[in-house]
Amino acid sequence: MIRSENLRSGYVQEDVEEYLYALIPERDAVISEMEKYAEEHRVPIIGPAVARLMTLLVQVSGAKRIFEMGSAIGYSTIWLARAAGPQAEVFYTDGNPENARRAQEYFRKAGVAKRIRVQVGDALELVKKTAGKFDFIFNDVDKHQYPDAMRAALPKLKRGGVFVTDNTLWSGKAARPAAADDKNTLGVQEFNRLVYTSKELFPVLIPLRDGVTVCRKI
Ligand SMILES: C[S@@+](CC[C@H](N)C(=O)[O-])C[C@H]1O[C@@H](n2cnc3c(N)ncnc32)[C@H](O)[C@@H]1O
Repeated sequence: MIRSENLRSGYVQEDVEEYLYALIPERDAVISEMEKYAEEHRVPIIGPAVARLMTLLVQVSGAKRIFEMGSAIGYSTIWLARAAGPQAEVFYTDGNPENARRAQEYFRKAGVAKRIRVQVGDALELVKKTAGKFDFIFNDVDKHQYPDAMRAALPKLKRGGVFVTDNTLWSGKAARPAAADDKNTLGVQEFNRLVYTSKELFPVLIPLRDGVTVCRKI
């Protein structure tokens, strides 16, 4: 069942989307509680379909050192931390301290607090400042910032590393001409052009939920 309206793509046929979500097994108590909270408080989370894709990508790539740009209440962070296992180091970032406080409660409940480093501030600055490179970077900041987020993240990604960005179809608006003042759609469109013309990346835009772009750094 599609629990929350913000999980709808806006471009996939409704019955097909319902079918896809109906296939996904129920989540455990913490993840279910977070999905309920996100629905009630309109927190935009990736939801279980994209979370399962991220789990798969982390596991097949063997990523351990993971940086997340824009983590909100920590829903995607918990999926990443669980996928990467007890040896993982996952960096949570969000500009909102109240989100970070709530996320930390969930991390404790989910039993993954020890593998997560919580940082409050601008994720674009934090990814540059945090020492070392990452195996996997997940970008989910405000959409007008996507081109700059990519420029900030790329130098911090190891060669062979995975760079994932959510909402790259932006309810289908990415595919249509954008108004001059629609900064979010323009940001997503510019990001899509940048990744597909980058000599450093091999991208695939997957039309799952709101669009997910998966890139490998060459
Ligand atoms: C779409 S939500 C993240 C959802 C989360 N990834 C999940 O799926 O559970 C975006 C979050 O990014 C935060 N954000 C947006 N731009 C940011 C920035 N430049 N630096 C840090 N946080 C940012 C917002 O406060 C918001 O909580």
